[in-house]
Amino acid sequence: MLAEASIRLKLAAAVSIWLLLASNAVMAQGLPGEQDYRNNCAICHGPTGKGDGQAVMVLPALRPKDLTQLTKENHGVFPAQKIYLAIDGRDNIAAHELGDNRMPTWGVNWQMGAGEPNPTSEANTRRRIQNLVSYIETLQEK
Ligand code: HEC
Repeated sequence: MLAEASIRLKLAAAVSIWLLLASNAVMAQGLPGEQDYRNNCAICHGPTGKGDGQAVMVLPALRPKDLTQLTKENHGVFPAQKIYLAIDGRDNIAAHELGDNRMPTWGVNWQMGAGEPNPTSEANTRRRIQNLVSYIETLQEK
């Protein structure tokens, strides 16, 4: 039918526009994880990871970790797995046990944002955290 064909055409157009937008978003983002860091982490950890985000001015008791020293503190090796778990937060590490001044548990937050946890939301959450870990690795001071 003609109507059906035209709906298909419109759908195809919509999908290609969406794909274009999505690829532009990735290009504008620079490094994977960078945008996510700016949106969710810089407020506490600071724009360059030094732990001097704006939230510290409002909540002096908050002590966001200086994320530029992780490699130095770990004898020259970036502790990727530890950082991954720290961001995810579903394993109850010390950083999340600081009461009101704790580090948010991003793994939980992002899963909930996607509705009922499911394999896709889990995969997306993992990819997001992995990208953040890679981005934080680029912030390390030698
Ligand atoms: C509300 C403030 C806040 C926000 C927002 C925040 N953090 Fe944190 N973060 C903290 C605090 C507080 C600690 C704990 C400091 C410590 O244990 O020394 C911490 C610790 C960490 C650690 C170090 C864990 C360790 O023990 O080595 C990493 C890595 C980290 N945050 C990454 C992130 C990332 C990535 C984001 C964004 C997705 C983020 N944080 C957002 C407050 C925050």
